[in-house]
Amino acid sequence: MKQRRGADLEPSSEAVRTMLAAATERIVRHLEALPAAPASVDVPLSTIDPILTAGLPETGERLEDLLDLIFDRFVPQGVDTASPGCLSYINSGGIFHAALADLITATTNRYVAYRAAAPALADLEAQVIRWFCDLAGLPPSSGGVLLSGGSMASLTAIVTARRERLGSRFDTATIYASDQMHHSILKSAMIAGLSLDNVRAIPTDETFRMRADELEAAITRDKAQGLTPFFVAGTAGTTNTGAIDDLEAVAAIARRHHLWFHVDGSYGGLFLLTGRGRGALKGIEHADTIALDPHKTLFIPYGSGCLLARDVKAMLRAHTIHSEYIATIAATGDSAPNFADLSVEQTREGRGLRIWLPLKLLGAGTFREALDEKLDLARSITNALEAIPTIEIVARPQLSIVAFRASPAGATDERADALNEAILTAVNRRGRVHLSGTTLRGRFAIRVCVLSFRAHEARIEACIEDIRAAVDEVLGAGG
Ligand SMILES: Cc1ncc(COP(=O)(O)O)c(C=O)c1O
Repeated sequence: MKQRRGADLEPSSEAVRTMLAAATERIVRHLEALPAAPASVDVPLSTIDPILTAGLPETGERLEDLLDLIFDRFVPQGVDTASPGCLSYINSGGIFHAALADLITATTNRYVAYRAAAPALADLEAQVIRWFCDLAGLPPSSGGVLLSGGSMASLTAIVTARRERLGSRFDTATIYASDQMHHSILKSAMIAGLSLDNVRAIPTDETFRMRADELEAAITRDKAQGLTPFFVAGTAGTTNTGAIDDLEAVAAIARRHHLWFHVDGSYGGLFLLTGRGRGALKGIEHADTIALDPHKTLFIPYGSGCLLARDVKAMLRAHTIHSEYIATIAATGDSAPNFADLSVEQTREGRGLRIWLPLKLLGAGTFREALDEKLDLARSITNALEAIPTIEIVARPQLSIVAFRASPAGATDERADALNEAILTAVNRRGRVHLSGTTLRGRFAIRVCVLSFRAHEARIEACIEDIRAAVDEVLGAGG
């Protein structure tokens, strides 16, 4: 009998079960091997696996062979941001519960861009956003949208503020954020058609928080020159050191000068789940927009960002366009807005279930406990680092990042920077942890960012051992 065209696109129930079983086996084996696997595997950047340069295949291959390739050959390369030893970038691992939700989302493949097409699934996503708005202390008028990450949240915030405060002319518009701002603020300003020359990097104090006096002075200076200050971003957890700007002070200045007050809480915002986080983030409730990144501080796999707005209608005004071919499905009546009207995206994956399912399955308390653990671990690693004679703490943890460097006696700044880079390389070469480097006040510093849900005390002890050993190796035993 002739097979129906495209039949392979709809595998039988039995074939689906077989595929799931094969993938399940590889996934479970991968998770079991993760703790002992290296946190990073260097591969020469100039080479590409020949399989990945081959042309479009005309016929299919066996799933088992492809799973072998993926798990044995592709996944192990580079920095494993899912490893318990990954203490470098702001990565948190990616909990399995969310991966399971993604499988369900992709299998059911429902269209949440317009609520009418999948009302309950859109409402589920809206519920996640409401939980976040409540957490941040935003009023009932608030709302938001789940985005791919913090950078999209920065762009969506700037575009919303631009529409609300500037109208169609923005050649004189100026933006303010600390000199520790994430580059997505700059990138978003550039993409939104604002001049990069008009983005002011406000000096920070010795704890890397934006100086309120410098902010106000810059705004006043720009106003006097006929410029149009319209947007200030307070950072709630900088990328470099986790510094949290004084959000109360920034909010007051924004109010005084009629600036849009954005909070970049991509890293720090979801520490609101913890008591310490709530204390440190006081003032966030005054924000006009807030960026949060569940793929950082809620341990969800990559692709989960969020922008909240105090007045969701502002986001709608900036992002809604009507067209005849979606008029029927786009009608909302009095109900919640369509996600397609809240950002640049129309069609995209349902992003709610990967956050909703873990929160429903585990409860917020589980996440609070895990985040509290990260705050504790960052403090314990700082104490241990302080006990190493040559080490100087450059930034104490305000959240879960500590920055440090070795200060070898008698070395010039350049020499000390080179030695610290060598220490970082020596730590990472051991493979138990992966740390990163940055530049703070013009000098090289090593960062430890404890955010992986898989990082516990034993791995932090291994990290300290490896830092000690690397310092001895580079500076000579005893530093
Ligand atoms: C403070 C801050 N804002 C924004 C971003 C950008 O987020 P994403 O990488 O999700 O686009 C980051 C990323 O590390 C960040 O640390």
